Amino acid sequence: MAVYFFEEPEHAARYQKYRPSTPSQLQEGLASHFDKVVGIDLSEAQIEEARKMDGPDNVSYRQGVAEEMKFEDGSVDLVTVGAAAHWFDMEKFMKELARILKPHGCVALYCYEVPHLLGYDHCSDHPTQIVQDLFTILKPYETEVNSIVWNEYKEVFDAITFPDKERAEDIYVKLKKSISWFIRYLNSSVLYQSYQKEDPENAKASLEKVEQRLLNALGVSSETVVEFSMKYFCVLASKPE
Ligand SMILES: C[S@@+](CC[C@H](N)C(=O)[O-])C[C@H]1O[C@@H](n2cnc3c(N)ncnc32)[C@H](O)[C@@H]1O
Repeated sequence: MAVYFFEEPEHAARYQKYRPSTPSQLQEGLASHFDKVVGIDLSEAQIEEARKMDGPDNVSYRQGVAEEMKFEDGSVDLVTVGAAAHWFDMEKFMKELARILKPHGCVALYCYEVPHLLGYDHCSDHPTQIVQDLFTILKPYETEVNSIVWNEYKEVFDAITFPDKERAEDIYVKLKKSISWFIRYLNSSVLYQSYQKEDPENAKASLEKVEQRLLNALGVSSETVVEFSMKYFCVLASKPE
């Protein structure tokens, strides 16, 4: 299963470098609001990457699975899940949430879409089309997990058994990054990694073509910093009394 890519140290390192990272979100976003923050991932390689970051003393990391988080009954205020709920066994995860959350404890499951280049809508070779052409090549490697993300977590929302639940959509974060960063972002996707594993030469050529088409269309160099918008979507729920 593609999730095992995350157990490869190289992939975990690439991920940490080129993706909006949960460890930094835990450290910068949550650590000052809670006594204790614990980051869990089933991949030891991902945990190792997270541990390399300097962080506040109340943040720790451990290998584990979302369906069995090993906290005491009714002891947790908030569970956040970054770009991972699409891999979970939602039935088991819900049972675990019902067990570990305090009454009115919350869960936030979020994910994001491929960054969208801003300010180049006038290009005749449109950036969105260039990226779309790559995803058409990657179509044979898509799994059910991808469709959960493409559907912006509809299935995740439906699987939440707490009655108090809602979706937060259309959260846009702007990023200033180079085209070469964007190419490495695309490279770090599990879909692309599956293609690369099966057909390294054509995978490399496809990504080089995306880069070349983008540079030609935008009239910039690989290291030119441009603006991207990244769309996040989030499912929020709260445990009943
Ligand atoms: C796309 S990465 C996101 C990593 C990190 N949360 C972030 O936002 O950068 C998906 C992660 O989910 C982890 N994962 C998948 N299924 C899991 C499960 N059942 N329990 C815990 N982690 C899981 C994988 O090992 C992988 O590191």
